Amino acid sequence: MQTRTLSPNRSGLDAASAILGAGGLVAFPTETVYGLGADARNDMAVARIFDAKRRPQFNPLIVHVQDAETARTFVEWTDTADRLAAAFWPGPLTLVLPLRPGLGLSRLVTAGLPTLAVRVPAHPLARDLLETFDGPVAAPSANPSGRISPTTADHVRAGLSGRIEAILDGGACGVGVESTIVGLKNSPILLRQGGLPQEALEAALAAPLEQHQPDDALIAPGQMASHYAPAARMRLNADATRPGEILLGFGAAKGATLNLSRAGDLTEAAANLFRCLHELDASNPETIAVSPIPDHGLGRAINDRLARAAAPRP
Ligand code: TXA
Ligand code: MG
Repeated sequence: MQTRTLSPNRSGLDAASAILGAGGLVAFPTETVYGLGADARNDMAVARIFDAKRRPQFNPLIVHVQDAETARTFVEWTDTADRLAAAFWPGPLTLVLPLRPGLGLSRLVTAGLPTLAVRVPAHPLARDLLETFDGPVAAPSANPSGRISPTTADHVRAGLSGRIEAILDGGACGVGVESTIVGLKNSPILLRQGGLPQEALEAALAAPLEQHQPDDALIAPGQMASHYAPAARMRLNADATRPGEILLGFGAAKGATLNLSRAGDLTEAAANLFRCLHELDASNPETIAVSPIPDHGLGRAINDRLARAAAPRP
């Protein structure tokens, strides 16, 4: 794939928006760092983010929208959210709130969590792109997994060239570190230090902010197990079903109730993973057996999530 560089003008924005609409990936500048954007409603497009970044795990992603009015349609909004949004949006602040289900967001965006991270970026190009596209854009930082976040289009090109459709070049990012993340599910907690100083948040809240472990703890097995685990038991690397089991297949698996990807395509499998687990679990099977998934590329992230789902329950 040839990665196009798009200019920061009307035709660049239209091209970027069209790529997003077609399920493609576009890196775009925000005031913090460059994001790697995909249509947050498109499972395949969101799966491709993880593939392009070579991310071995499905971390939940931030959904970017053009204004607070749009943000509040996706989550259970609160007075505190209102206060923080009024004070700091658009800007380098991400709010984590309970997800309102049924609004068409890909389950891969939240990695199956019941909460959603939303942010209204301040960069004029990001805002223009969100307005032109007129839909929610899932975007992690536009770097390969484990590398530092990009603050110029050149950084993005160095890490992701040939793996994404386009880079919208808006020059260097002003803030240079990622957004501050605040969880508002219960009383406010600081989930990640970032571009908006803690002091500014505490001033707006008129209260000290409790600090959580680094947000990576979110994906630690102990914390996530309950979110990922279906009610059914799980048996992995199953070649055939046993009594009481239904099979989640992959590739040529026979007798599967659902198949992650008949073609054996790991991007398609990742796109289908959470939806398939939810659907199978809804039929209340004793055990969900899962075909072996190749352990390379996105297969590693799929196997990571399956292992968590199959882990012994407390
Ligand atoms: O400044 C930024 O926030 C940049 C720009 C592109 O917006 N984005 C960014 O995304 O830094 P990323 O994926 O590199 O980091 C997002 C962090 C992840 O560490 C993830 O764990 C956390 O946000 N996160 C996403 N959804 C969450 C949720 N529902 N609950 C808690 N943490 C969440
Ligand atoms: Mg990142």
